[in-house]
Amino acid sequence: MHNNIFVTGDLHVGKSTLIQRVLSNLPLIKILGFKTSRFFQNKKLAGFYLEDFSRLRQDTPKAFIGRCVNDNYWVSIPETFDTLGVEILQNCLKGKPDLIVMDELGFFENDAKLFQKHVFAVLASPIPVLGVLKKKRTPFLDQIRKRSDVKVFEVTRENRDRMYEQIYEEVLQLIGLGKGKNYIDAASYEKTVKEVFAPVYPVIAKQILDRTKMKSGICLDVGAGTGHLGIELTKISDFNTYLLDCSQDMLLIAEQNIERAGLQGRVHTLLGSVYRIPLNNESVDLVISRGSLYFWEQKKLALHEIYRVLAPGGMAYIGGGFGSAELKRKIYLQMQQKDQNWRKNMAQKINQTNNINYLELLKDLDLAYLEVSNSEAGMWLIMQKKQEFGVGTASN
Ligand SMILES: C[S@@+](CC[C@H](N)C(=O)[O-])C[C@H]1O[C@@H](n2cnc3c(N)ncnc32)[C@H](O)[C@@H]1O
Repeated sequence: MHNNIFVTGDLHVGKSTLIQRVLSNLPLIKILGFKTSRFFQNKKLAGFYLEDFSRLRQDTPKAFIGRCVNDNYWVSIPETFDTLGVEILQNCLKGKPDLIVMDELGFFENDAKLFQKHVFAVLASPIPVLGVLKKKRTPFLDQIRKRSDVKVFEVTRENRDRMYEQIYEEVLQLIGLGKGKNYIDAASYEKTVKEVFAPVYPVIAKQILDRTKMKSGICLDVGAGTGHLGIELTKISDFNTYLLDCSQDMLLIAEQNIERAGLQGRVHTLLGSVYRIPLNNESVDLVISRGSLYFWEQKKLALHEIYRVLAPGGMAYIGGGFGSAELKRKIYLQMQQKDQNWRKNMAQKINQTNNINYLELLKDLDLAYLEVSNSEAGMWLIMQKKQEFGVGTASN
């Protein structure tokens, strides 16, 4: 299976432009890596230099990797790769970004053996790479081409727009943000939320705070969609909240909702998957999640990842529902009018998810408290991570 994508093609065909286009459409993810840029003197191409992607500044002294001497004679400067290049690649692995960019790999690094070694280490890491590969053949470039974890796309003037769409989708898949079969259209979801679901969020937010008896700290809303539950909970508590979702489109709408609620300083969006939450171990006091569990194909992995980010004594309130039997009845009626099959599809999803044996899935975790509550108000999994000294605080 490939985890790294390279674009190749003839000179000036738009390889780097394509990469830039992909990156500019991923505004919420963490990207590290390098790019090589052209240096002009008296309007003539006179060299190439290496830049750290996270520190692109005009005033940085140029770290040349190749220079043109005596008109058309080019010399490479492999030391730049073996020093600055290696440093950038090491920082890429340390910084744990969502994506590493290598724009581009060519022939100036033919003799930069240390740099090459680090390129291979990055390619073998679980973090996906998006890069440009010179079309020319060299032992180093050939070694990259033939790796089973690398997929190379050849770009031409004719195919570059089509290629952009394909590469963008592939990158989304690699970073765990692909549309997949469960993709929900964000704009129409938000419309339904505003027209139908809106009353459930303040009710559930209050239930969570009453039930967990928590008032402040860091809250994480997993599969937050357009953000309503996390926002409502933040309004009536002292929590600072992250809204995590794998859909950038959902989060762009969530950002507007945060602004509308005047909560810019306290609620933040976080693009990522429940399978790889971009937060440190034990950094979250309260995890909340409504309606997202039904979409997690690997529930055990997701719940274990949630446990990882929970602080000792922290609680999670995960599931789905409409807050009360009365709200559920109203919403079912409204939704049934919008979509004849809604009730049937919903029942199928809910049954599949509710019938899972959560006690079995969570048996390896050190929990102070675990409850699976099923009522007209919904199905909720409430758990509390053990305190360091084994003291639980959750109570009924
Ligand atoms: C039905 S919506 C619920 C949204 C919101 N919690 C609400 O109650 O309005 C499900 C959300 O889960 C998100 N989601 C699905 N799978 C996910 C995953 N693996 N990681 C993060 N979010 C996910 C979807 O993108 C979607 O926004």
